[in-house]
Amino acid sequence: MKKIILDCDPGHDDAIAILLAAGSPDVELLGITTVAGNHTIDNVTRNALSVCAAYGIEVPVARGAAWPLVGPQVLAKEVHGETGLDGPPLPEAAFDLDERHAVDFIIDTVMAHEPGTVTLVPVGPFTNIALALRKEPRIAERVESVVVMGGSFTRGNVTPTSEFNVYADPEAAEVVFRAPWNVTMVGLDLTHQALATRELQDRVRAVGGPISEFVLGVWEWVATRFESLQQIEAPVVHDACCVAAVIDPTVFTVEKADVRVELTGTWTRGMTVANFESAPGKNHFGSATEQGDYRTDVAMTLDWPRFADLITDALQHLTRVRKGQS
Ligand code: BDR
Ligand code: CA
Repeated sequence: MKKIILDCDPGHDDAIAILLAAGSPDVELLGITTVAGNHTIDNVTRNALSVCAAYGIEVPVARGAAWPLVGPQVLAKEVHGETGLDGPPLPEAAFDLDERHAVDFIIDTVMAHEPGTVTLVPVGPFTNIALALRKEPRIAERVESVVVMGGSFTRGNVTPTSEFNVYADPEAAEVVFRAPWNVTMVGLDLTHQALATRELQDRVRAVGGPISEFVLGVWEWVATRFESLQQIEAPVVHDACCVAAVIDPTVFTVEKADVRVELTGTWTRGMTVANFESAPGKNHFGSATEQGDYRTDVAMTLDWPRFADLITDALQHLTRVRKGQS
């Protein structure tokens, strides 16, 4: 069974990622860490606790960084609303937080497990992960891999070039891409294939019960927002793509690239510049003799039917478990 730490900023699609991780029998969710991103650290942490409390997900939740490493804070209130998870009703947060800061939770958990057994899944700005690397560099050789939602090699969603999670803390993202570990970049190029189409919504409706209602409520909210903001045909299920890839790495194809984060561009700060190993001549960064750093697996093409099965199966499983609990 794959062990993961989900580092998130719930956030509508983050909530779906939590449910997928908690509902998949192939994943052990070791804990949830929170980071300011879609909303303030107070709100995203409360939202994480509320989702866990509502659906019987009993895992440690540790609160993390309130601010990006260097730049000003950028929140996504216009997408996720005043609470960070507007729309479907949620109960008050009922569980206690883990006493540790998220950074210490990540370090303790990774170092306490056998090498090569824990996968980090950051689906918000990468601030906690960068801080954890700086505080305990040995986590780089200890983790199995890091599967990030962030970046894009075509176009952005905050600026023409930059995706939200990277744009919100570009310096942290560059730390994560440069560290000596295996990174999979699940960017907008991939996640915009992960649509909650009418077919997926009908399958989730057929699951029935409060979890299914919550997920449909999340997508209803997102659909309303995106219709006015980005005119996308169905809700995009960004963050769950990373969890899906841990459960089943064949859910999307990857290509190796050297990914660098633009930190200084006037118009391009937060852009992920992906130099593909398969590119003609490889277009080396730096001098003609300098070797590229073609280590990042960049997600390319989604197996949508498989993705839809993983979501539906996890929600069914979680619903059954919850019925057993009540
Ligand atoms: C990312 O930004 C956030 O708003 C979403 O939760 C997702 O992680 C998509 O750009
Ligand atoms: Ca997110």
